[in-house]
Amino acid sequence: MNAGYLVLAGVLLAGPAVSSDAIQQMFDEYRQQGVTTMNAQAGKALWEREFPNKGGGQLRSCTDCHGSRPENPGKHVRTGKPIEPMAVSANGKRFSDPGKIRKWFKRNCKWTLGRECSAQEQADILVFLSSQ
Ligand code: HEC
Repeated sequence: MNAGYLVLAGVLLAGPAVSSDAIQQMFDEYRQQGVTTMNAQAGKALWEREFPNKGGGQLRSCTDCHGSRPENPGKHVRTGKPIEPMAVSANGKRFSDPGKIRKWFKRNCKWTLGRECSAQEQADILVFLSSQ
């Protein structure tokens, strides 16, 4: 890891992209779980990555329901219900309740990846979405 990366991570940890107390609280929790850097690029890659479905069906990704661009609305892949944009810039109500963030990370990671997301993965995704 080079010094430039550490400086950038330091800037992210200091939190200019942080737009709510809830996001700040989540970052504090991730830090307590050992996360020292957050990487929006890694978050974006994970957000777009396709994971094999254990049941043998189609590949799954976060974008299945949230759409390929976080600033646009999504649509639930099963129910067809609209989902408001995930980007904080497009939806000021995003990430305002730590309980909601934890609940949906758990549920959606299980559905998409077949397992829970690590604190590092959640931190990367959250820094990505909150910087969009
Ligand atoms: C099967 C559909 C579906 C998939 C796939 C999905 N989500 Fe979601 N997600 C939802 C729904 C529905 C909500 C709740 C409605 C809302 O907040 O607009 C939600 C909400 C969330 C929230 C809470 C946002 C907030 O404002 O607090 C997070 C975080 C989240 N999803 C992360 C993810 C991640 C990470 C992935 C991929 C690992 C993912 N989602 C994949 C349907 C999905």
